[in-house]
Amino acid sequence: MISEARHHLDLDGIGLRASVSERIEVRAGDSTEARIPQEAEEFPLMRGKIQTGMLWGSLNDGESLDAEQFVGMRAVAGFCSLVLEGARARELAAVRAAHGSMVQLASEALRKILEEDRLYKSVLVLTLELMDASGGAVLLEDGEGVTAGDIGEDPAEYRGITLSKKKPWIGSLGGRHAVGIPVGRESGALFLVRESRPHTTEEGASLKLVARQLDRARERAELSAAREKATLDTIAALAATLETRDGITGEHIRRTQGLAERIVEALDLTSNSVRVVRYASVLHDIGKVGIPDAILNKPGKLDENEWEFMRRHPRIGADIVDQIEGFEEISAAIIAHHERYDGGGYPFGLKGEEIPIEARIISVVDTYDAMTSDRPYRRALSHDTAIAELSRCAGTQFDTRVVEAFCSMGLRDPKEREDD
Ligand SMILES: [Fe+2]
Repeated sequence: MISEARHHLDLDGIGLRASVSERIEVRAGDSTEARIPQEAEEFPLMRGKIQTGMLWGSLNDGESLDAEQFVGMRAVAGFCSLVLEGARARELAAVRAAHGSMVQLASEALRKILEEDRLYKSVLVLTLELMDASGGAVLLEDGEGVTAGDIGEDPAEYRGITLSKKKPWIGSLGGRHAVGIPVGRESGALFLVRESRPHTTEEGASLKLVARQLDRARERAELSAAREKATLDTIAALAATLETRDGITGEHIRRTQGLAERIVEALDLTSNSVRVVRYASVLHDIGKVGIPDAILNKPGKLDENEWEFMRRHPRIGADIVDQIEGFEEISAAIIAHHERYDGGGYPFGLKGEEIPIEARIISVVDTYDAMTSDRPYRRALSHDTAIAELSRCAGTQFDTRVVEAFCSMGLRDPKEREDD
């Protein structure tokens, strides 16, 4: 259209420079450079009182435009303003739609996530992607933080910024454009940074909605954690009651659970494994409920027939736990807690990595606790003897990696611990 105008108005040079929005700039005509030729006549493009661009026309040898050319250029400028206004409206609608879907996506994603770290990480990755930011951080009230992308500097630097719930903070951090909004009850914050261009108030408003969703999701996560704890406590109490049947105190369960959780931490496993270990360590021997007292409490050695019965307890336990929805992986860990790393265990003779990691962990802590506890038929072994025995059986009965993690936890003799 611009070159047609040049032809009709018999101009030697013509050009247009305008911005549709903060994201889109348009350049057309003879010179797409930012600079407008000195001899050119300029016609501003206006949206109301705001200048959105410039149309220019020129003749060779610095001649002035005649009246007809002048009127023609003003008409072209008016038309260009209208076209730009249409483009701007479409761009705004697209941005609004993108932000709307961002908030919706965030909200849907958050509804499914019940662990705080994953929650913050997911929100960050999602908002970075959709708000075209290069990096971001969620700073938590306890001094912890989650970051994603390239944030350019230590997120602790962000903590000095005062944020308001009412209005997003828009400014710069480490030479980058930044936007921030508070999250959580007190001093938590969500920041996004990018180099390309400043954040708009619309983006700030979308971020505010994301922060609100984040707060709601966090409340749900806290509620779910409290519910999960109550369930675990109830299950642990029931399991401890059952355990007294074979003369072992319920303390065995708590100790096994505590040690197993520390191994999961030392091995840096997923939060899902933490949950599976937590429940499976409490419930691993629940299947003993199906073993007759005469076998369970027999003072002497079991004969082959009685062992046959005894070896059923992982399967019975798994069958019981399998009835609970969402406990499938816990059931899989329970059934495998007497498998051996070299394939010589029961009930399936699984080998190495075929055995769920949670079951490999329980196997080590269960054996350790059994060795270091008094039994009617023998005194407890010392911590050092038990550790030596675990190390001896690493690679055969136990997963070496698990035994190494257990040995590196710096445990002291259980008797010493009791004296504390
Ligand atoms: Fe067992």
